Amino acid sequence: MKEIKIESILQVFQSLDKLPPEVYNLMKSAVKARGQAYAPYSNFSVGAAILLDNGEIVLGNNQENASYPSGLCAERTAIYSAGAQFPNAKILKIAICAGSKITPTNKPIPPCGACRQAIAEYEIKQKSPIEIYFMGESGAVAKSKSLENLLPFMFDKSVL
Ligand code: THU
Repeated sequence: MKEIKIESILQVFQSLDKLPPEVYNLMKSAVKARGQAYAPYSNFSVGAAILLDNGEIVLGNNQENASYPSGLCAERTAIYSAGAQFPNAKILKIAICAGSKITPTNKPIPPCGACRQAIAEYEIKQKSPIEIYFMGESGAVAKSKSLENLLPFMFDKSVL
């Protein structure tokens, strides 16, 4: 028997205004996108902003549905939109901002497992890391240098 240990490392910025200007602006776009989320069932709204290597910013937010599983998270709304509109562009960074009308969110809220899996597909496809920044409504912003860092032991096409 042997053990395999994989470490995940996050960088934490104390607040939004401690981010480098380009990331600050991207997170501001995510905050704006969150304001346009359609989340009447959970009252938990999420915004995502993706920066591409062609300079474009693609936004997404969660879109809920009366048939709950038919809804989609902000991150996947954004990444599939980027893939649909700019199939040849590389994704450089994703900023994510989550907030609830019910529970205060003042710590970084990471993307769900399904969204990590979706983002992983694009990181593998483009063969370069995607930086992920995430926060709550206020407070610290966490940074992951890659998606892989957030999803150890990922499922990918190499096993198909
Ligand atoms: N949600 C996201 O948009 N992203 C995540 O990573 C986690 C959850 C959405 C889905 C649902 O509309 C609401 O937040 C509550 O789960």
